[in-house]
Amino acid sequence: MRFEKHIFICINKRDPGKECCAAKGSEAIVDAMKEEIKKRGLAGKIRVNKAGCLDQCSKGVSMVVYPEGVWYGKVTLEDVHEIIESHLMTGKPVERLRTF
Ligand code: FES
Repeated sequence: MRFEKHIFICINKRDPGKECCAAKGSEAIVDAMKEEIKKRGLAGKIRVNKAGCLDQCSKGVSMVVYPEGVWYGKVTLEDVHEIIESHLMTGKPVERLRTF
């Protein structure tokens, strides 16, 4: 496997009036997560990719972490640090944000 962890964050934008991750600030979450991972020197081990719709629009911002296949929903900018610290660094998923 190329990366130890691979994170996909939905940045999909839907029509006005429909819930979507883009409207809930997913691009800023992608940027914050990438920056924090880079700062920690983990860029070669942990990869963050923008994703299209993950079919969890009402639970956005949605993301999934592989290889575990742990899904998170309603993620905000404030949750980024905890996901990195708990899940990515110590392997303990953030249960309160889990959707699957
Ligand atoms: S818009 Fe993000 S899951 Fe559908």
